[in-house]
Amino acid sequence: MSEATASWWRSAVFYQIYPRSFQDGNGDGIGDLRGIRSRLDYLGDVLGVDALWMSPFYPSPMDDFGYDVADYCDVDPVFGDLADFDALLADVHERGMHLIVDLVPNHTSDQHAWFRASRSSRDAPKRDWYVWRDGKGPGAPPNNWPGVFGGPAWEWDEATGQWYLHSFLPSQPDLNWRNREVREAMYDVMRFWLDRGADGFRIDVAHYILKDPDLRDLPLRDDIGETGFKALGEYDRYQHVHNKGHPDVHEVFREMRAVLDEYTPERFAVGEIHDFDVHSWASYYGKGDELHMPFDFSLLWAPWSAERFRELIDEVEAAIPERGWPNHVLGNHDETRLATRFGRGAVRGSAVLLCTLRGTPTLYYGDELGLSEVEIDVERQQDPWGRRVPGLGRDGCRTPMPWDGSEHAGFCPPDAEPWLPLGPEAGERNAAAQAADPGSVLSLYRALLAYRRRSPSLRLGDYAAIDGVPAGCFAHLRTHPGSPAVAAAVNFTGEPMTVPGLPAGSIVVSTGMDRAGEPVRGSVRLGPHEAVVVEAG
Ligand code: NOJ
Ligand code: CA
Repeated sequence: MSEATASWWRSAVFYQIYPRSFQDGNGDGIGDLRGIRSRLDYLGDVLGVDALWMSPFYPSPMDDFGYDVADYCDVDPVFGDLADFDALLADVHERGMHLIVDLVPNHTSDQHAWFRASRSSRDAPKRDWYVWRDGKGPGAPPNNWPGVFGGPAWEWDEATGQWYLHSFLPSQPDLNWRNREVREAMYDVMRFWLDRGADGFRIDVAHYILKDPDLRDLPLRDDIGETGFKALGEYDRYQHVHNKGHPDVHEVFREMRAVLDEYTPERFAVGEIHDFDVHSWASYYGKGDELHMPFDFSLLWAPWSAERFRELIDEVEAAIPERGWPNHVLGNHDETRLATRFGRGAVRGSAVLLCTLRGTPTLYYGDELGLSEVEIDVERQQDPWGRRVPGLGRDGCRTPMPWDGSEHAGFCPPDAEPWLPLGPEAGERNAAAQAADPGSVLSLYRALLAYRRRSPSLRLGDYAAIDGVPAGCFAHLRTHPGSPAVAAAVNFTGEPMTVPGLPAGSIVVSTGMDRAGEPVRGSVRLGPHEAVVVEAG
């Protein structure tokens, strides 16, 4: 694919913002749209990302901090209003950046007008907009499906004498995507944001929206193995073959794509699709007529191992259909911070991989500072998941962004109380301190992203792993016609090593002491946890 024909989202670097935690603009201790708008210089000029994804900012009771939407077409007063959204989007576009918003189509809040109407009576016109069923007997839900956040996936409604399905919290009832009116209503929601100029969507649990039409019981698992980074407890006892990912979902994705394709310039969608089988995961690329890509979480859940990384990257590269485009995610608002999950030694090497592998990277706010997971005292915990299933809370990766060395790290005024505490490292590990330090993680990201912008090989080139490297090293080569080839080599270990098989050229970015400009003749010496990017020529 040439520069001229490549879509903007292929060569973009995305940055995920968790709106509650990025920047407070009105002094109530909670991040908001005005706050985000005030930090665009940092995102565009200091860091140098191209596109933003904002987690939900819609009116919501905040049972799941916005993933329980009470109105898809407005802004919660905590975050601002539609005028704030329009102003933010205009500023993003003025900088030549893109903005995608979160679409939560699987479930609404139980406070959404649609659900209120649906639960009002058995013959309400919107009854069928949600999944209502009789139980198997007194007190027994319709099937054995568990909710992701603990407890059964069914809630009894006393007034109408039926159960409703909720894959997540009881206050997040699942919509019935087999109902045509539901589909059309959600496509109108998409148009609402696209008409305002949004560049597309991150689609929440996209594959959950279609289930087995007969709602059959789930079989139990006979092996409890590796299913992701966080063990889901009770939920993990089942094979989730009927409660999500029904093949009919592809038809919905084609319909969603058709809505996106009504617009120019090109609009984009990425699906949050957790699927542990690489081939089944790759099926979500469709024939180029569904969502543009499913998020690839394979590295996020992997151990920090060069061999495992190579295996996963090669597997994914082989499984993606020819027209598909890879993407990489190493952190998000649901997972333990990368620096804690992989270990501190992995922070810089993982930055090099995220910014050099073939495909679109999505960087989670704060990971560019190498933030650690923050321990939150039980009494300050906010996440409903952690409150329901101790140990599974996600607050530790959602703490306020540390901007500077002042009180509350510049996230909110000194006299405000931030909605979650800042981590103990905010005094040193903050954006201002790191921007001034050429040896910081932020400076590394800046250098990587600046080089990536200049390098068609990194943005659009082919990928090949480099063979013959020592154990504990992963190295790969990116090539694109008319542009110098680029290699990246990462030492995953605490021992120094010599890496052969690299092209002759010179180092353009390094994680250790500044080695930019150092010539490379076939091999390079790497210190513990060191990584380099080498340009051929
Ligand atoms: C996935 C989101 O990433 C997560 O934060 C949320 O709690 C669930 N979907 C439910 O919407
Ligand atoms: Ca605020």
